[in-house]
Formats: sequence, structure tokens, C-alpha cells
Amino acid sequence: MAQHIIIDPVTRIEGHAKVSILLDDDGQVSEARFHVAEFRGFEKFCEGRPLWEMAGITARICGICPVSHLLASAKAGDRILAVIVPPAAEKLRRLMNLGQIVQSHALSFFHLSAPDLLLGIESDPARRNVFGLIAAEPELARGGIRLRQFGQEIIEALGGQKIHPAWAVPGGVRAPLGREGYARIRAWLPEVRSIAIGALGRFKRLLDQFREEAQIFGNFPSLFMGMVAPDGSWEHYDGAIRFADSAGNVIADRLDPARYHDYIGEAVEPWSYLKFPFYRPMGYPDGSYRVGPLARLNICARIGTPLADAELREFRQHGHGMVTSSFFYHYARLIEIIAAIERIELLLDDPDIAPGAEAGRLRADAGINQLEGVGASEAPRGTLFHHYQVDRDGLIRRVNLLIATGQNNLALNRTVAQIARYYLSGPRVSEGLLNRVEAGIRAFDPCLSCSTHALGTMPLTVTLLGQDGAVLDEAAR
Ligand code: MG
Ligand code: NI
Repeated sequence: MAQHIIIDPVTRIEGHAKVSILLDDDGQVSEARFHVAEFRGFEKFCEGRPLWEMAGITARICGICPVSHLLASAKAGDRILAVIVPPAAEKLRRLMNLGQIVQSHALSFFHLSAPDLLLGIESDPARRNVFGLIAAEPELARGGIRLRQFGQEIIEALGGQKIHPAWAVPGGVRAPLGREGYARIRAWLPEVRSIAIGALGRFKRLLDQFREEAQIFGNFPSLFMGMVAPDGSWEHYDGAIRFADSAGNVIADRLDPARYHDYIGEAVEPWSYLKFPFYRPMGYPDGSYRVGPLARLNICARIGTPLADAELREFRQHGHGMVTSSFFYHYARLIEIIAAIERIELLLDDPDIAPGAEAGRLRADAGINQLEGVGASEAPRGTLFHHYQVDRDGLIRRVNLLIATGQNNLALNRTVAQIARYYLSGPRVSEGLLNRVEAGIRAFDPCLSCSTHALGTMPLTVTLLGQDGAVLDEAAR
């Protein structure tokens, strides 16, 4: 009799989800499904709204990554206006995206995943959280909080508020970086640099203890996708799309994000509201690809800043061609924090955005010049696409959003199945299995807020169901 094990909800990820593990007649894991419980229907909800409101509206999709939606939306608007964004505005948007990468990666690593890594995956769940981390490793926990504050301060200095900053608009940005904000950001740099370097060093020293996890937590060949700069280096805001395979071969390059539908298909499964993007030429589900920090570090030729490039060289020793273990998302995230800090430093030296530079225009004014536009950028979790169709008055007719967590959907399921195959013994959800499924999912830092309502940490319930739906076993935390 085929059986289902359901883990619901997963704690310490953003939003609400449940996991079911499907067993075959022999009690072996056949597949795993990561369910998003609710669909917010944002794509439908946007229809009929003016293009000009879209950046502000879509920033409200998610309390965790408003900046990512804001920027992708503004970029889609740039295309519909058919304008070139003034250079100072583009650099300010980049600065905000880097602040978002730092604050989001810091949240993921220090608040959500570090408790597993530093207190132990098998440690008491009641203390395996950020408060337990503060008690056990106060300096590291404090560093994480400071890094997050730094990222938020950049967002606030530009957007005027921490959450939902409707600051980027089609054609550019609303306001420059003021003298005071500039000085505040600069003053942070020595501190955040040393926090980021220290945290990465700490993580590398832990790796020996997690050899098993590195082998089992989503370690499989897949494609990797992300943006790269024209010279192939790491890119976070605007570039062409590259796909590479797990042997390290670039299999498609210089793809225009606006033509994403040519190379990305979106499969539908009856059990999930979230679509399953795949690389079209390889079909579904063989064209499974991963996005986000691990993918970006795998596909780029170099990062382009000295500290991050030195770390990238060391990171790459953990793979043959590509680093294929999803456990290394954590590692990649910490390197990206360093890369972002180095880039922020460079941007602050740029005369275009220095305060008082009278950088000139920050926004290109235009009306509706095209009826369709795609905006794409690298969100902390991976490539984000906003695709709008408008009428001649600029009212939205159709919206398609392709979010990072959706693109990692297939890899997430595969990760859970791999962990379950290794840690499942008998038709029971042991504490060890439960802990590892959660930790494996968290490596991807899935952002379920982008498609669900619920926020925050919840108690964990695990239900084991038989094929007929009867509860065979249940474990609650
Ligand atoms: Mg969509
Ligand atoms: Ni989000």
C-alpha cells in the first residue's frame, strides 16, 4: 500500500508550507512534494491597475523581498516606456538591490539557518532558534543583526522606509541618495566587512562537521541559471541569462531576459498552485534548474571584487565543474554578502551618485510606447521576472511573475526526496528526519511569502497517511 508522510508546516522559513513524502508499496520513498498552501492571486489582482502603480503594488507581494519586486517591476516599466534609465538612477537601483541582498542573506543565514548549523540539527527545537543562538554565540548572532541593519539602512536611505519603498519607478527613481544617508552607509563599511569575513570563516570551519549533509542535502546534477554581466562576471541587477550544466559547461548564454518564454517553460501539477519552471530545450522535468546564490556563483566567470573572488576560488574546490550540493547555498550566500559589501563600497565612490554631485536627471519621463515589457533582476533567492502587458492607456491587461522559489521548486522536491531516502526508517517520521527535511528546505531560503499569506514561525506537525487517507502516524512539536 502506497503511503504519504506529510510534514506541515515547515518552521523557520518565510510563509507557510507543508511537505508530503510519498512511499511506494515497498515503503521506499518514491517522491516528495513541497506544497504552498495558499495562492495570493497577485497576477490576477493587478489586472486593470495603472502601470505606474505596479512597482508600489508588487512591492507588497512580500514583506521579505519587496525591493526585488520593486526593481523588477520598475524595469518592466522601463521597457513599456521604451526609455533608457539615467545612469545615476541605475546605479542607485543597484545600490538598493545590494542592500537587499545583504539584509535578506543575513536573515537567511544568521536568523534562520545558523541555529541548525551552530547549535546542531539534532539539538532541542525549543532552543534551536535565533534566541538560542544569541545565548550560545552572542557575537555571531549580534553580527547577523548588524548586517541586516546595514542592508535595511541602505534601503531606508534610498526608499525612505524599510518596507514597501515605492521609490523605483518606470524610467528611474524618485529621489537621490542624500548627504546624511550617504555618510551613514559609509560609516558602516569597516564593521560589516569584518562581520561578513568572520562569519564566512566560522562557516568554513564548520564544514567538516557537515560532510554528511553536504552529500545528502540536495546533492544532484541539475542546470544552474542566472544573470551574468557582458564579460561573464557575477551580476545582480541587469544582464543576460546564462544556463550551465553541473559539469561546468555553459549550455546557453547571452539570452535576453525579455524572451524568457522561449527558453523557460512553466509546467503545472495538479497538486500545486506554484508552477514548475524548466529549461525548455531539455523538457519537463529533465530541464530542472536551480537559481539563487549557488547558481550565480556556479555560472559566473568571476565575481569581480578581490575578497569575493578569493573566496569563490576556494568555494569551487568543493565541486568538480560545479558545486552541486544545495547545502552550499549557505556558503554561497555568505560569499555574496562579501561581494555585495565590496560593490557597495565601489558604488559609493562613483561620482554619479555622490551627494551634491547634481547627478542630473534621475528619471526619464515618457508615456506608453510599447504594450509589453519584461523586467528581470537577481533577487536574493534567484532570478525574478515581471512580465506585463498593458493597453494604450497603460492599464495592466496581463501579468506573469516568475519567482525564484518557483524556479527552485523541482530542486526543492528532489532535495526533500533525497533526504527522506537517506533518513527514513520505517513508515514513521523520526525527529531526525523531520529536522533534516526542514534544514534541507531552508538551504534554498524559499520565499513563500511571495505566494502565501501566513508569516512567522509555527509549531510543526507531521502526519503519516496511508493511501486511503487514514492517519497512520502523527508527530507534533
Ligand atoms: Mg507566473
Ligand atoms: Ni518574497
